[in-house]
Amino acid sequence: MRGDQVIVVSNREPYMHERGAGGIEIRRPASGLVTAVEPVMRACSGTWIAHGSGSADREVVDRHDHVALPPGHDEYLLRRIWLTPEQEQGYYYGFANEGLWPLCHVAHVRPVFRESDWEHYKRVNRLFADAVVAEARSEDPVILVQDYHFALVPAMVRERLPRATILSFWHIPWPNPESFGICPWRAEILEGMLGSTIMGFHTQFHCKNFMETVDRYLEARIEHEHSTITFHGDPTFVEAYPISIEWPLPEQARTWPSVGQCRSELMERLDIPRDHRIAVGVDRFDYTKGILERLHAVERMLEKYPEWQKRFTFVQVAAPSRGALEEYRLFQQRIAAQVDRINDRFGRPGAPVIRLLAQHHEHDEVTKLYRAADVCLVTSLHDGMNLVCKEFIAARDDERGVLILSRFAGAARELTEALIVNPYHVEETADALFHALTMPPGEQRERMASLRSTVHEFNVYRWAGRMLSDAARLRLRQRVST
Ligand code: G6P
Repeated sequence: MRGDQVIVVSNREPYMHERGAGGIEIRRPASGLVTAVEPVMRACSGTWIAHGSGSADREVVDRHDHVALPPGHDEYLLRRIWLTPEQEQGYYYGFANEGLWPLCHVAHVRPVFRESDWEHYKRVNRLFADAVVAEARSEDPVILVQDYHFALVPAMVRERLPRATILSFWHIPWPNPESFGICPWRAEILEGMLGSTIMGFHTQFHCKNFMETVDRYLEARIEHEHSTITFHGDPTFVEAYPISIEWPLPEQARTWPSVGQCRSELMERLDIPRDHRIAVGVDRFDYTKGILERLHAVERMLEKYPEWQKRFTFVQVAAPSRGALEEYRLFQQRIAAQVDRINDRFGRPGAPVIRLLAQHHEHDEVTKLYRAADVCLVTSLHDGMNLVCKEFIAARDDERGVLILSRFAGAARELTEALIVNPYHVEETADALFHALTMPPGEQRERMASLRSTVHEFNVYRWAGRMLSDAARLRLRQRVST
């Protein structure tokens, strides 16, 4: 694939330019997709097409709506797409986040399907497909379509660039055919996705669900032994590519403050007593992340093991997310109320047991938090992969710290040395927290060393590399047969 043009399509952009008090500020959004795709993009250059959503985004682009990134390094181009407030409401908040997001997570929040949102979704998908065609410099570029915002883009691009290699990746779970079947536009969505050369998911389980869904709702030929679906004569290869993170290079890690320093700084900043053990949670403020269940588990642990009541602090970072949606606003209020209630019950004046930091944190700050913690809690009710757990592991070059991980996150299939829990089972999670707090250093080290070698080996370059080498193989086959 060397020399081939690579185009990435995603809704979320890797950098946002925001108007701040001191001029234009640059922000990295909280998004697993961006965390994973950006290092790949830096390695292969090319063009990234995404929604320009920062308040100062328009001020820094050239006349083609391009800006070179990362700032100061100019390794790839970002082409920003502008959406009207109605398009953003209908396509992003509406169809993508009130429809497809709860539909695919099966998180007990009922999906909402509005005809008008669907119309916007189709129109915005068309807008991005047009931008791909406009950016293409040959008839066969390599196009990486990211996530549930763009289910229709692969077929739309395929129509106009029949020789393109289209690799689509679905960053969230794929549910079973019955669950997916309630979507009024299920056939259109599946047909859109089958414009892809490769359709990637995080786990075999999601691939199987997808193939069964196609089998149920479309007239397509499914060859399970070759993981291939042929629809209208065009094959799509369906495969699991577990996404990951960039493994920190030794130079990067060298700039991290020591674990002891991170701990002292955090304790000072949040006024945490020196003899406390610290657990952390880092999430977007999203109802799929199991934050409420996690709080219940913390409460139960303190109730069941009262010796920890004066020796434990839980720090929850919750980056505001999709706040224009009522479901998200209500969720934030519910969490804040639970935190107050638990603090009233177990905290002491000036020393609350739970610290809720409900604002955006930059990656460096989060890394310091991971290094300061004794335990990291990832209790998603359902998650495609979840990269927080992998980032926690990468940050612990001291081989200490315990990871508690939901069995319903894709990552649980790889990270078997974590304490795996069912987040719906409060008692089990509370016991796991107690186990983590009392785990001897030797066991922590053994588990962490093994987790670190897994994430090191299966890093994000492996994710992209496997997908691109499968693409190269299929491309060669296509060239030979035409
Ligand atoms: C999930 C999705 C991503 C999305 C991220 C943040 O990880 O799979 O596509 O970027 O959440 O959500 P947001 O709506 O803020 O982009």
